Amino acid sequence: MSVDVLLGLQWGDEGKGKIVDFLADKYQFIARYQGGPNAGHTIYQNSKKFVLHTIPSGIFHNNIGNIIGNGVVINPITLMEEIRELEDAGLDIKTRLFIALKANLILPTHIELDKASEQKRGEAKIGSTLRGISPAYMDKTGRNALKIGEIFKSDFKQRYEALRDKHLEMMSTMNFAADLANEVKWIQALEELKAYTFVDCEQFINKQLNEGKNILAEGAQGAMLDLDYGTYPFVTSSNTISGGVCTGLGVAPQKIKEVYGITKAYCTRVGSGPFPTELHDETGEKLRKEGSEFGATTGRPRRCGWIDFPALRYACMLNGVTKLCITKVDVLNNFELIGYANEYAVQSEKTKDMPTFLTDDLIPIYESAKGWNQDIAGVKNYSELPEELKDYVQLIETHTGSKVSLVSVGPGRDELFEF
Ligand code: GDP
Ligand code: IMO
Ligand code: MG
Repeated sequence: MSVDVLLGLQWGDEGKGKIVDFLADKYQFIARYQGGPNAGHTIYQNSKKFVLHTIPSGIFHNNIGNIIGNGVVINPITLMEEIRELEDAGLDIKTRLFIALKANLILPTHIELDKASEQKRGEAKIGSTLRGISPAYMDKTGRNALKIGEIFKSDFKQRYEALRDKHLEMMSTMNFAADLANEVKWIQALEELKAYTFVDCEQFINKQLNEGKNILAEGAQGAMLDLDYGTYPFVTSSNTISGGVCTGLGVAPQKIKEVYGITKAYCTRVGSGPFPTELHDETGEKLRKEGSEFGATTGRPRRCGWIDFPALRYACMLNGVTKLCITKVDVLNNFELIGYANEYAVQSEKTKDMPTFLTDDLIPIYESAKGWNQDIAGVKNYSELPEELKDYVQLIETHTGSKVSLVSVGPGRDELFEF
């Protein structure tokens, strides 16, 4: 049948994991198409918190396959840790998880290279998650990478050692002392992974589609971190936008139907780089506190600010969003006024569009909406929500030109309304 896509429209952590988990029952397969363990997707299952890094967020559902696609970069240590945690929770991962043979490996030396590169950049560092993402994708585009499926080949060890030694040489020229303490664990994890299910991702997915199955492609990061369209160079190293689904899973564009775009009711960013609506005052601090804005992967405090419509419109355009989902609305419960930027001023010129390059002299022009200023916990129907909240949802719909189809009002599995 078809592929729907669910992805982040901001700088990541929009609540993608929770919404995938909610929608999963409509699909036979959930597939990650890019990124790697830089992602942290939070799901509450029977009040227990799980943070998924490489495994798709449909894993808690019976009878749903979860595919780690070709476009993903895999660290076997992280993947095995995730698998073990889920197996300890009673899930049969061997039948639920499908790993693309062509997914690229993150080597222990990729992580060291990530650290070396960030150290060399100094003040200008990207603020990466230090998970080896950029060096792993660099080896992919540089045509040096090792595919996970190659672990079954007899020359894997030699190929691994050759690439590792190349990395070590690079780091010695950078005067960086690489730590290889995890190498044995990495090799062991790869051995253990051999017991799980590997597939030729593109053949597998297209066969499922031809047999009438529906697939949800789960994005990691967000549109503003896209390698080509985000705030370069402060981006991740993969195509996070809907276009990445075709290359990451091996499906043709005509197969894609709905695109769920997830945005918070405000805005956050973790790591360095431009963030026009960032608030450096007590309001930003309040958003961080009310929203528990600390990274799911690294624990770093997230930078917080008001919703940014020029950026959000740009993200909706790039992705072809058909269903806009607004999360963390409840975080705004205690605000008299809710700020938003609908345009920017750049050198006395005003624009509602995303400028080609974000410069330091860009100033967001703020307006404000009336807050609902009350607790909304326990509300069971959308119609029972405060009028000011519904007006704010309407305002987001108007300013993005995208139809809102879901509003999330708490971290819990059932704390959301779908229309
Ligand atoms: P992802 O990377 O997009 O999957 O998002 P993360 O898991 O990194 O971060 C989202 C955080 O917000 C998690 O801690 C979620 O439990 C939480 N969350 C998701 N939706 C809501 C919501 O509607 N309200 C509140 N308060 N928290 C939410
Ligand atoms: P999820 O899927 C938020 C950010 C990092 C850094 C930049 C580059 O949970 O939304 P990288 O390690 O990819 O080279 O880091 O991208 N970043 C994320 N920020 N959520 C994520 O994933 C992120 N993955 C990467 O903080 O600024
Ligand atoms: Mg996250």
